[in-house]
Amino acid sequence: MPQLTVEGVGTFFVPAGKRLVLVLEDEAKIDQLHSCGGHARCTTCRVKFISGEPTKVTQAERSILAARGLGAEAGLRLSCQITCDHDMRVMAISRLAGSGKEDVGPRPADIITPPPVWT
Ligand code: FES
Repeated sequence: MPQLTVEGVGTFFVPAGKRLVLVLEDEAKIDQLHSCGGHARCTTCRVKFISGEPTKVTQAERSILAARGLGAEAGLRLSCQITCDHDMRVMAISRLAGSGKEDVGPRPADIITPPPVWT
């Protein structure tokens, strides 16, 4: 069972293959933003990887990060476009507290959306 460490929060066992955005919400129980509902449209689900960054990237993630000018920042990834299949350590850098938003956004589906095209 993979483990996720969220800096300043704790380390959690993760059901293998679960979407990272849902692990942040369900296991780590943090107020992670996901304003578009996990469809790779908003970038509010972004996290900063410290270790264990996945090497494969969905085309949707690559496109929106580039469009927002975020693609060049090392370790910055969209938690809605990642499944947990190995140990990871991240910083939760986009949370409801202090964001000015009313809520974290609609709950993402259990599977990656849109259907992933891996690059
Ligand atoms: S890009 Fe909107 S929740 Fe991931």
